[in-house]
Amino acid sequence: MQHEGTRTIESYAHRKNEHQPRSGLSSTSQILKNTWESVGPPFAVPIVHRTLRYCQITVQLYCATVSTKEENIMDFFEAVKARHSIRAFQSRPVEEEKVNRIIETVNLAPSAGDLQAYEIVVVKDSRRKNELVRAAGGQSFISEAPVCLVFLAYPERSSRKYGRRGSELYCLQDATIVTAYAQLAATALGLASTWVGAFDEEAVAKVVEAPKNKRPIAILPIGYAAETPDVTQRRRISEIVCSETSGAPYPSFSFTDESYKRPTWEPRP
Ligand SMILES: Cc1cc2nc3c(=O)[nH]c(=O)nc-3n(C[C@H](O)[C@H](O)[C@H](O)COP(=O)(O)O)c2cc1C
Repeated sequence: MQHEGTRTIESYAHRKNEHQPRSGLSSTSQILKNTWESVGPPFAVPIVHRTLRYCQITVQLYCATVSTKEENIMDFFEAVKARHSIRAFQSRPVEEEKVNRIIETVNLAPSAGDLQAYEIVVVKDSRRKNELVRAAGGQSFISEAPVCLVFLAYPERSSRKYGRRGSELYCLQDATIVTAYAQLAATALGLASTWVGAFDEEAVAKVVEAPKNKRPIAILPIGYAAETPDVTQRRRISEIVCSETSGAPYPSFSFTDESYKRPTWEPRP
């Protein structure tokens, strides 16, 4: 019998096929050829560039979806590029082995003083996931995901060694780093997620029965994607990277790989 999730992912891949990769690429090359011939190189170059970029992103997303089925593991750079916030999940369960793979990966993340001032709660229970939805202002995709990881910072653990810096900063950084690692590990395993930070902390703590000395900092719903994500924008590199001093231009940057380019905010919000 065909697995429900397999059927869904196949229809998802099929749906994407209708729009993009195989026939899509050949019709795209025809469009590019026509563009080149009709408007000439000076005008065609930016159009061709944008079109190729669009194809590249689409193929990447397609590959990420297919790799899920074939159990391929992506390398680091592929995973970074393939990660997008996904807010719709299939009902297909997440394999226990993949959850364990995520856990063993985040365990290798750096932490201040190697204290690992965090805790990760794995939530699969539907009732609890529904409560997380309520605590997060009704973000219903949380309960669609078969697994949610709730990341708690553990201020006391860090403050014992580092005082206020530990309780106000390091524990938050420790917990944040593991959340980011978990997102990338999930992507590398063909899974999808969204970092959820908009929630009532007390309510989330109550859902996972966290004691007062542990602070929820993120919820990560994880599952198999059931949507094609938006390609999100990024600030210009020149706005976020400086040379030597804050605010000073960093002229040496240029993309080494065009596929890392994203549409930029225009105007900057
Ligand atoms: C600290 C933080 C909090 C976030 N909170 C939410 C949230 O509550 N709900 C949500 O849908 N997305 C949330 N996001 C996801 C961002 O909206 C998303 O990362 C951003 O729009 C960029 O899109 P991308 O992840 O697809 O690159 C959060 C991301 C971060 C890092």
